[in-house]
Amino acid sequence: MSTSTSSAVKAAFDIEEIRAQFPILKELVHGKPLVYFDNAATSQKPRRVIKAESTYYATINANVHRGVHTLSTKATEAQEASRETIRTHLNAKHAHEVIFTSGTTASINLAANSLGQLLLKKGDEVVISGMEHHSNIVPWQLACERHGAVLKVIPISESGEWDFPSANQLISSSANRVRILAISHVSNTLGTINPVKELVAEAKKRGIVTVVDGAQAVPHLKVDVQDLGCDFYAFSGHKAYGPTGIGVLYGREELLEKMPPWQGGGEMIDQVTLEKSTWAKLPFKFEAGTPNIAGIIGLGEAIRWMNDYDLVAMAAHERTLREHATKELLAIEGLRIIGTAKEKVGVVSFVIDGVHHYDLGTLLDQQGIAVRTGHHCTQPLMERFGVSGTTRASFACFNTNAEVDAMVAATKKAVKMLR
Ligand code: ALA
Repeated sequence: MSTSTSSAVKAAFDIEEIRAQFPILKELVHGKPLVYFDNAATSQKPRRVIKAESTYYATINANVHRGVHTLSTKATEAQEASRETIRTHLNAKHAHEVIFTSGTTASINLAANSLGQLLLKKGDEVVISGMEHHSNIVPWQLACERHGAVLKVIPISESGEWDFPSANQLISSSANRVRILAISHVSNTLGTINPVKELVAEAKKRGIVTVVDGAQAVPHLKVDVQDLGCDFYAFSGHKAYGPTGIGVLYGREELLEKMPPWQGGGEMIDQVTLEKSTWAKLPFKFEAGTPNIAGIIGLGEAIRWMNDYDLVAMAAHERTLREHATKELLAIEGLRIIGTAKEKVGVVSFVIDGVHHYDLGTLLDQQGIAVRTGHHCTQPLMERFGVSGTTRASFACFNTNAEVDAMVAATKKAVKMLR
């Protein structure tokens, strides 16, 4: 099983070479070649990631950090090699600042529960933005309810960006009650890349703890947690070419040390008596129970796979797809793009007068084209834009302009049928 970091970044961005690594792209859907534009929901997986998981099960399957036997040692080494890969990728200071969870949702719930207990008192404030995914809203609502704190929300502009002056004003409340700022790096619905570094810097001046939802950023941007300056950064494996059921919470050592554990069980303890228990050192204090070992190994391989490529070239390719799709879609009468920020990843969300997104999604599927329709787990954002849902095409590095053309042609056909 490969655990080494990549030897050299591939010189050229060769789309056919990339596509050849994704077995699913050979599938037919309703007899048509699959066009997969639902990468913000979950990306497809290169063969190397699929193989890393199956090789673990076929050759070294054992529990980690528990046995002295050979397989357990090998499984532990493979798991911890993944942790180190992720540490390097995020530029975290220490591997023990990388905590494995089941995904971004679990990462944010961990942060909200444990930080809530550590920091929040009656009358304190937590600030989020109006473009958050439900998984960066609901855990904070629950934490605020539990501790008598108040949730404040950064308003979103017509282009789908934070209203920065309002954001600044919210975190500078004169009573100085804001304890936590929880914001997404990239919007899953709009594709907006938010100026996280700038807002985090403002929050830091005021001693506010910052939590960043990076689920939609890690697949597309080179993330450096020390450069961003955030205290916590959450992401999922499955949106970044990795397996489902595995995610990461990066946390700054100093805070993780102070935070109480969220879940109790095996592995997260130092000593247990029937009266009381003490906790294991980081990161294990936050990793109760047998982890998703295969998922961790698969995620490490996904990050190594990404790093075999020039991530800037990958992002540029996705930007080209987004620009092409935007231009072609806007030629359709009555079509409106929701989310027109200057800085966006490869996401195009749109509504069309007289066409329900669900009907459009169903007709696109008939042509083999997978898009997401609905509220995208961002109901408050839908309300902000006065729509019940959108059709969203979200691109990955393996998509092509020809696929965009197929989607646009199929959309035009569908509009004729539905109007
Ligand atoms: N958060 C995922 C999406 O945006 C599920 O589709």
